[in-house]
Order: sequence, then C-alpha cells, then structure tokens
Amino acid sequence: MKAAIINRYGEAYVLRYTDVQAPRIKPDQMLVRVHASSVNPVDWKIRKGLLKPLTGKQFPMILGFDVAGDVVAVGGRVTRFRPGDTIYARLDQLAGGAYAEYAAVSERVAALKPANMSYEQAAAVPLAGLTALQALRDRGQLKPGQKVLINGASGGVGTYAVQIAKVLGAAEVVGVCSAKNFDLVRDLGCDRTLDYSQQDFTQEDTRYDIVFDVIGNRSFADCRRVLQPQGFYITTQPYPQNFLRSFASALLPGPTYKVILLRSNSDDLTFLKTQIEAGKIHSVIDRTYPLAETAAAHAYSEAEHATGKIVITVE
Ligand SMILES: NC(=O)c1ccc[n+]([C@@H]2O[C@H](COP(=O)([O-])OP(=O)(O)OC[C@H]3O[C@@H](n4cnc5c(N)ncnc54)[C@H](OP(=O)(O)O)[C@@H]3O)[C@@H](O)[C@H]2O)c1
Repeated sequence: MKAAIINRYGEAYVLRYTDVQAPRIKPDQMLVRVHASSVNPVDWKIRKGLLKPLTGKQFPMILGFDVAGDVVAVGGRVTRFRPGDTIYARLDQLAGGAYAEYAAVSERVAALKPANMSYEQAAAVPLAGLTALQALRDRGQLKPGQKVLINGASGGVGTYAVQIAKVLGAAEVVGVCSAKNFDLVRDLGCDRTLDYSQQDFTQEDTRYDIVFDVIGNRSFADCRRVLQPQGFYITTQPYPQNFLRSFASALLPGPTYKVILLRSNSDDLTFLKTQIEAGKIHSVIDRTYPLAETAAAHAYSEAEHATGKIVITVE
C-alpha cells in the first residue's frame, strides 16, 4: 500500500511517500481503508523526535492519528463493526499509523462516521474534537451558564472547543485569536473576540469559570486573576512540570490548574457524531493535501497559523 513514512526523525522533508506492507490486525482491531486523515501538531512533534522517549526508534514509522474510512476486515474479537461500515477514529498506537491507504484501528477507539460529513470533514474531528470535549467537560467540569475563554479559538482544537462549549451550555464564550479570524469564530459561537496582538486577556476585568489555554503560551499565574475562585485553567501542554503544577494547585485554595491529555474512546466520538448530525458542530478545514504531499501539510501546520484543520486525502 502507499503511505507517508519516516525512516528517521527530522524536518518535514524526511516524510516520504512510498510503498509499504499493509498493517496486520490484532483480534480487537479492524483493517480500515483510509479515505482521509488530518494533521495535528503532535504529528510533527513526533516527526522531529521531540517525543522520542515515547515513540522509540523503530523505523519505518507511519505517523498520523486521525482516520476516516471503510472497514474492510475485522479481527475475531470485534463485535460492534463489520466490513462495509464507515468509521472515524483517533488511533491509539504511540506514533499513529493513519497516513496510509490502510490502518489497523482498535474497535474501542472507533465510532460510526457522522452521516452528514464527508470523509475529509470527519477525519478532521477525532484528535482535536476529543481534546476539546475532554478538556471542557472533564477537566473544566463546564456547567450550563458558565463563562469560558478559549485562547487559540481559530485553530484545530479551538474551532471545536468554541462549538463544544456552546453545546455544553456555556452562556458566554470568548475567543482569543487574530482579527482576521474574528468572523469565523463568531460564526462558530463566540460571543466576544479578543485579538491577542492588541489585547492581553489576563489584564481584563472580567472573571471566567474556565480559561482553556489551547495554545499553552500563558501561565497559570497570569490567568488566575481572570478566573473565578472555583475556576479552572486548562493547558494542552502535557509537560511533567505542568502535571506537578496541577497536583500542587489541587492542594491550594483558589482556581485549579489542569492538564488535558486526550484519551481515544468510541463513546466520546459517538457523542460528537450525535452533535454533528444535529448540526451543532462542524469542521473548519483550512487546506487539504493529497497523501503524497504530506510533507507540505506538515510544513504548513508547523507555521502554527492554520485556521481550523489541515486534512490529508488518500485516493
Ligand atoms: N495534550 C493533548 O492531548 C493535546 C491534544 C491536541 C492538541 N494539543 C496541543 O495543543 C496545541 C494546539 O493544537 P491545535 O491543533 O489547535 O494547533 P493549530 O491548529 O496548529 O493552532 C493554530 C492556531 O493557533 C492560533 N495562534 C497562534 N498563535 C497564537 C497566539 N499567540 N494566541 C492565540 N492564538 C494563536 C492561530 O491563529 P492566528 O492564525 O489567528 O494567529 C491558529 O489559528 C498544540 O501545541 C498541540 O500539540 C495537545
């Protein structure tokens, strides 16, 4: 099968489009014909070797975590899917495996694809959508009527976070992004927008129940002053020192520091599918690249100014 692989860690040019063996599935997995995947910043962080202690040195490596495609075969222990089903999933292998014509997908991380989405739109959802959902619902314990600020509202995670905050009943969602993306994030549900190049949200006089720091470039110390005493600061940056900060803040009075580290699971993907089919969540796609041009897709993602998601199509 065709795949975009790396044979060593490095810059985007180490990604090569070539022929490799199709994956062999385990009893709890399905073989999926991938029609689309998407790029997440973790993909290029792995490609650069920044997560080497986790991803090891076994090459060739196929990166990519998001899959939308058709089930072509199922392992002996798979009970919920059968060949012909159309699914979407966030892979649970350490380095991924989605940038390919076929992927091995564990049953427990897959759900039926939202019926009203194309493969491309659905492949944008899993990693970013699950992160946004689990950050706001589980880490932030978002309740109806609350005020939420999303720092990085126009990116992959942020565009889903704005919509999910509204689905979970937030009364006010404030989006921090650059002015060129104001109209987009307002259309997604933001009640107010702040341009990070003009205004520092941590100097506002307002108080939020949740500050979701998707970009992860603000400190808890700065954000405390715009949080309610029972509020939550949530970062997407899972560094060891941030887990220590989170542990320490749980012992102290005042706002709580949380780190989101998403967990792939089919129940949450099914929840997102329901909301998508109800018209409450959609994917914002900035650019689409064919699998053969995955290196260019990575380079674009690494610039860190994508508006919504970058999708890979697999012909
Ligand atoms: N821990 C986890 O489980 C987990 C899961 C998913 C993602 N993450 C991490 O979360 C981060 C964001 O992921 P993503 O997929 O949303 O990234 P992304 O799509 O690449 O984010 C791009 C967006 O960031 C905005 N941005 C850039 N600089 C900004 C700033 N200073 N302030 C506010 N917005 C700014 C850009 O808006 P403008 O173009 O308007 O500047 C752009 O729309 C990454 O570091 C990723 O690795 C962690």
